[in-house]
Amino acid sequence: MKTIASIAEMKAAVRSARAEEKTVGLVPTMGFLHEGHLSLVRESRARTDLTVVSIFVNPAQFGPNEDFASYPRDPGRDAALLEREGADILFLPAAPDIYPRGYATYVEVQKLQDRLCGASRPGHFRGVCTIVLKLFEIVRPDAAFFGRKDAQQAIILARMAGDLNLDVRIEVRPIVREPDGLALSSRNIYLNPDERRAALVLSRSLATAGAMIKAGETRAEAVVAAIRDAIGREPLARIDYIEAVDPVTLAPVDRTGEGTLVALAVFIGKTRLIDNFVVGPGGEIT
Ligand code: PAF
Repeated sequence: MKTIASIAEMKAAVRSARAEEKTVGLVPTMGFLHEGHLSLVRESRARTDLTVVSIFVNPAQFGPNEDFASYPRDPGRDAALLEREGADILFLPAAPDIYPRGYATYVEVQKLQDRLCGASRPGHFRGVCTIVLKLFEIVRPDAAFFGRKDAQQAIILARMAGDLNLDVRIEVRPIVREPDGLALSSRNIYLNPDERRAALVLSRSLATAGAMIKAGETRAEAVVAAIRDAIGREPLARIDYIEAVDPVTLAPVDRTGEGTLVALAVFIGKTRLIDNFVVGPGGEIT
């Protein structure tokens, strides 16, 4: 695996791969990699000829009171994991190269960016879209791979790619979970043992809601109320939002049906965790 820090060198590496008619896959990350990220690397390797993994803790997507400074970082461990997975290039751009002095250009996906996580994290998706569009410009991937845990992010990025006629396929892969159900996240490292136990309320409450839908419940209000009840019984949990929304507009739905996204964000202690499921054609949940 080659590690590249310079933007010019990254562009040149992709140019020479393209000259050999190779297809390019990009897995954008903020590092502190876990099995969820590695599943994306595997998918990119299976679907494209050259897999580029970027690691950049993007200051533009963190609010002033969020965890940019303390966000977990371990580039040595990340590089070893990527080497083992057979990634071709690790792209590690420096912040002053990405956002040089005087930087002033940002990308917004209106309305969608204000819903769900966007309501309590103003500016977050503007930061995500800006960095991802910049990475797309630098790497020019045929396909880019994202996890479904960040469902709103994937929906917004697919909208951006479509609206701007970008030549990139947005591939969204399933949530990877711990054996006990907790969705993998780099932020799980913040949880102490009591919080780690309490955090299971997210996946458990979603499983209960999923079972209701599978049994025929379609009233979104009832589904959301069941999740709210379950989480309300966990003293370490504080709900940010629980919503059942349309997968295109992210507007709340009255009735759940195929494609409905049931998503939540919950603070466990000081750590904000997200999780979700999507309703399948037969009412099954994924
Ligand atoms: O999902 C993430 O880790 C980040 O939001 C992303 C897509 C790498 C952009 O910084």
